[in-house]
Amino acid sequence: MIIGSKIYRFDEIDSTNEYAKSLIKQAPEGTIVLADRQTAGKGRLGKSWYSPDGGLWMSVILHPPQIALISVITGIAICESLSCYGVLAFIKWPNDILLNGKKIAGILTEIIGNVVILGIGINLNIRTFPEELKDYASSVFLETKKHLGKKMIYQTLCTELNYVYMLLKNKEVPHILMKWRNYTTMLGRDVIIELPDKKMMTGRVLDIANNGSLIIRLPTGKVERILAGECQLKLVK
Ligand code: BTN
Repeated sequence: MIIGSKIYRFDEIDSTNEYAKSLIKQAPEGTIVLADRQTAGKGRLGKSWYSPDGGLWMSVILHPPQIALISVITGIAICESLSCYGVLAFIKWPNDILLNGKKIAGILTEIIGNVVILGIGINLNIRTFPEELKDYASSVFLETKKHLGKKMIYQTLCTELNYVYMLLKNKEVPHILMKWRNYTTMLGRDVIIELPDKKMMTGRVLDIANNGSLIIRLPTGKVERILAGECQLKLVK
């Protein structure tokens, strides 16, 4: 198995992604950095990521053939892992995993040359969140009252991630996209997307493309493909 070829485990660290970055010259592909808590966990778009004890915080060093679908396969692996234990989470493009409409996991990919640092945060057994996060963030425990062992989820996630990563290495893109469609509630939904230049775009989600971009139909009828990049997306109720 590539994923977990080498493992660095910490009780506490600033950010597993930052530590993984310091290893890229010597670490084999699949190296994992794992920590019980992070003091400076990083989220997308320069935000911080609340990372107390109780969550699963890890980074994986990858040399993927194609960077675009990394978040897609990771979202699938997270949802498949949770579904093994009866927890039905969904993917909100590009990088959020939702349960009962609240974010319970996130994915942060950082690209250095042809190496990807894949950061995964799953709010597994966190019991309280800071006031400012409460409206949209939650944990598997708070949403389901199930306490899923961290080690068990970690092991399942490594297996699932290895499986979908092999699909990517073998260029089995249609298989990956089919799995993604199973785990998203976005198809046919109306969305508002904030583009990197802060422009807003509204449209209806039609599908996901081979490169992971979202295919939407604008109110004018024109079909656009939106690359994940620095986009933020809101589902219209
Ligand atoms: C997001 O904003 O949705 C992405 C959150 C990613 C958090 C994980 S936790 C493990 C890894 N280390 C970090 O500092 N961030 C990622």
